[in-house]
Amino acid sequence: MLNTRFCERFSVELPLIQAGMAGNITTPEMVAAVSEAGGLGTLGAAYMQPDAIRQAIREIKRLTSKPFAVNLLLYPEVERPEVTPAFTEWLNGRRAAVGLPEWSGELPMTPDAIAERFRILLEEEVPVFSFAFSLPGAFGEEARRAGMKLIGTATTLEEALALQEAGVDAIVAQGGEAGGHRGTFHVGDQGDGACIGTLPLVALLTEALPDMPIIAAGGIMDGRGMIAALALGADAVQLGTRFLACKESSAHPAYKARLLAARETDTAITRAFSGRPARGVDNRFMQTQREAGVSPLPFPVQNRLTGEIRAAAARQNDSENMTLWAGQGVAMLREEESAAEIVAKLIREAERAAARIALLCPGSSRR
Ligand SMILES: Cc1cc2nc3c(=O)[nH]c(=O)nc-3n(C[C@H](O)[C@H](O)[C@H](O)COP(=O)(O)O)c2cc1C
Repeated sequence: MLNTRFCERFSVELPLIQAGMAGNITTPEMVAAVSEAGGLGTLGAAYMQPDAIRQAIREIKRLTSKPFAVNLLLYPEVERPEVTPAFTEWLNGRRAAVGLPEWSGELPMTPDAIAERFRILLEEEVPVFSFAFSLPGAFGEEARRAGMKLIGTATTLEEALALQEAGVDAIVAQGGEAGGHRGTFHVGDQGDGACIGTLPLVALLTEALPDMPIIAAGGIMDGRGMIAALALGADAVQLGTRFLACKESSAHPAYKARLLAARETDTAITRAFSGRPARGVDNRFMQTQREAGVSPLPFPVQNRLTGEIRAAAARQNDSENMTLWAGQGVAMLREEESAAEIVAKLIREAERAAARIALLCPGSSRR
């Protein structure tokens, strides 16, 4: 029942991806457990050092012989931004809140090692390369030549058409409900990026790109959501938030605790942490930026600039000053389970949901 084009194309048993989540969350144990259970586990490698990526890939391969993915965020460096006194005042307020001295005023402009990270994926012969924020560019050609499968991320029809043109093997349709960063290519210097709901975005993309496997992402928390996405024409689902608090996740304990206590009204989209819009549980860090009315610096400069604050907050178990990325389905997280338990549960729930739909339309298979 759950065998789709995605399963064929990616040599997996289940149409299910555990999202690659940057920021020290997706451990080799999580990735391997999901792949072993029949899904496609993904290492979120966007902020990892190249050597750490290599070690993690080798560990995944030691734990499973099944396919898995490694995810990177692809973005250009930006020009040195202007800094206003109001911004500096807000930043220093956050630094003081976690016991850090005033900011030196030095902007962290050293480029991120995206090409070096990608090289590790090539050298370690990763089966699937997934990415967000842009088209794959030259990385796409190199990945294809090396025999990797490619998964891009779209938040609009225009982005999906461009990804198809670029030759990807599947496209994540990321709805506005999704936790973490919006994948929107051009977010400009304000606003939330494109936030089309998962339901209309998946319906639109499956209709407009009939030959492309579409992977629904955003707000899918259980097997009912999986069946809903497949009913819309999706070939697979990608879940991030559902795996955040699992036993294998290395998310900070204070972050996990906040997720398990979260209500459905608790998330908001913010640029305060990284400079790009991302959805997470609202906290003091986000509130103070809104109250101060200051514009964060562009990604990735803002992300580097707030890194020291987030690290200090983590040392102090201070969930008010760390990122608490989560999707709108966060209130459905109830307990810490293992990744394998989550996959098994999703499939049982999906089968129940499909049986319920079959009951609602008796005789439909005969018509
Ligand atoms: C903590 C967190 C980190 C994320 N990091 C990435 C990332 O590095 N790369 C990426 O393509 N997507 C990332 N995402 C987005 C996921 O790929 C996916 O679109 C999203 O989790 C789906 O929505 P859901 O959280 O409601 O399941 C992240 C999501 C979360 C929750």
